[in-house]
Amino acid sequence: MLEPCEEAGPGLRPGPEPEEAAPEGKTGRPSWEEDEQDSAQMKSDVIDRMCGYDGLEEDEDEAQEERQIVVGICAMTKKSNSKPMTQILERLCKFDYIDVVIFPEEVILEEPVENWPRCDCLISFHSKGFPLDKAVDYAKLRNPLLINDLNMQYFIQDRREVYRILKEEGIDLPRYAVLNRDPHHPDDCNLVEAEDHVEVNGEVFPKPFVEKPVCAEDHNVYIYYPTSAGGGSQRLFRKIGSRSSVYSPESCVRKTGSYIYEEFMPTDGTDVKVYTVGPDYAHAEARKSPALDGKVERDSEGKEIRYPVMLTSMEKLVARKVCMAFKQTVCGFDLLRANGHSFVCDVNGFSFVKNSMKYYDDCAKVLGNMVMRELAPQLHIPWSIPMEAEDIPIVPTTSGSMMELRCVIAIIRHGDRTPKQKMKMEVRHPLFFDLFEKYGGYKSGKLKLKKPKQLQEVLDIARLLLAELGQHNDCEIEEKKSKLEQLKTVLEMKTTVCRYGHFSGINRKVQLTYLRNGQPKASSEEEDCKKDGPSLLLVLKWGGELTPAGRVQAEELGRAFRCMYPGGQGSSETHAYAPIYTK
Ligand SMILES: Nc1ncnc2c1ncn2[C@@H]1O[C@H](COP(=O)(O)OP(=O)(O)O)[C@@H](O)[C@H]1O
Ligand SMILES: [Mg+2]
Repeated sequence: MLEPCEEAGPGLRPGPEPEEAAPEGKTGRPSWEEDEQDSAQMKSDVIDRMCGYDGLEEDEDEAQEERQIVVGICAMTKKSNSKPMTQILERLCKFDYIDVVIFPEEVILEEPVENWPRCDCLISFHSKGFPLDKAVDYAKLRNPLLINDLNMQYFIQDRREVYRILKEEGIDLPRYAVLNRDPHHPDDCNLVEAEDHVEVNGEVFPKPFVEKPVCAEDHNVYIYYPTSAGGGSQRLFRKIGSRSSVYSPESCVRKTGSYIYEEFMPTDGTDVKVYTVGPDYAHAEARKSPALDGKVERDSEGKEIRYPVMLTSMEKLVARKVCMAFKQTVCGFDLLRANGHSFVCDVNGFSFVKNSMKYYDDCAKVLGNMVMRELAPQLHIPWSIPMEAEDIPIVPTTSGSMMELRCVIAIIRHGDRTPKQKMKMEVRHPLFFDLFEKYGGYKSGKLKLKKPKQLQEVLDIARLLLAELGQHNDCEIEEKKSKLEQLKTVLEMKTTVCRYGHFSGINRKVQLTYLRNGQPKASSEEEDCKKDGPSLLLVLKWGGELTPAGRVQAEELGRAFRCMYPGGQGSSETHAYAPIYTK
């Protein structure tokens, strides 16, 4: 029978606000060691340390030097001791700086959270009988890195919330309606039943349709057949031995309890089970749908038969979205491939793939790297993501193994730009010398000014001198004036790369060179009017801008470039980013 689902719902539970920035106990010692309340008895009886960590108490000094990252496993024993968990934790312990502590079930159930072992990272998830409220309190108290968010696990227990979140994320799911029933007035609900359809809140669901208890822990999902197919219904349940459903001649829907009604998606008779480990990793496999005849397919060892599945790029994106939307690094969900699309019909939260060595290896590696990436810096552990041979993406194909192209980045030097230009002038005004000094020109006798602020200063000087020169009318000054005009004009130019009217400095620069005796003069005539004393040779360089034609060409090239590789158009795992404008 239907187990009542918490109607109050998860929305009423506030999320844990981190009380303190860093968890207590961030010293050199493993955090649980610091709890004064921890008696030696408690340590030996209660804390199940994996990875042969028993030498710890004897040698505190050593422990102090080698601060380990503690990953706590807080779940019901059935889950903590399961084969996949054991396999994955064994692999996780191989990370030099990671230790794993399994919280014993009796501690979880009976001890106050203050007495729970401490950890830096928590892998905790709800299953039947698990005190999620306590786990939330623990996380609030110790503020560990959460592999699977705990508050979201209230939502995962309610199919209405799961569907609401999926819908909000724009993830495809079967068309559905929620029929909420007040247990005290079961008939008082928005259901109209006919032979071959139901109307829920005014929305019609022709048979075949699916009826799911709102409580996600309740697996008594019924599928109702149309009269054209003989009527009746298929009653699904949590697998018992070789059975997962039975046919029932009953054609009428259930009249107690709250349900989701949804359209039946015609698949090829298999469900696709997806298992994420973070947003960038997903394993998938197909199994015979329990909605068929209810006979579970098993191999000679009694294991359920699984069919290999390659997720499409759209499905990988769905996996990423599910993992992120529910904040569950380790997350299982069901996909129905129907009518050329994939629809999510169930999100289960924490779930490991069973009996796959490859998955155990991958999962431990992804989790270990994630833990190290997040926690190594704050614990001052020197660590960078290892690049191993196995990380090279090799995909099996019908024609053998091949490398998977993940990304193409090209930087293309583009030629279609304006010519580069140069103007030289000798300057002697003290303002130029001041500028030369300000930016340390005397150190080497040379200075390059490129920064917007610096170019603005040169422009300010040019404007000032031009204003001063305005009244004069002699030929030498005229020559200087025209050069100053040019300096001013070039520095005032607003180009495509010079946004918001500021200097970008990319296509302009001013060089100043100190000349002890001024510039040498070519002719004796010039020699006569040569001024004494030092001067600065100002060289202005500009140009080399991408032309409008060049811009169009670059964009066209970018578009062509995206299509050059399989899976282009940005829809698959291969990304070709273009255009990149460059000089
Ligand atoms: N909309 C649907 N169309 C077709 N089959 C469905 C639909 N929803 C569920 N099923 C079938 O029913 C099974 C159980 O439904 P699911 O939502 O996964 O509930 P459970 O929580 O019991 O796993 C699925 O694995 C799938 O085979
Ligand atoms: Mg399911």
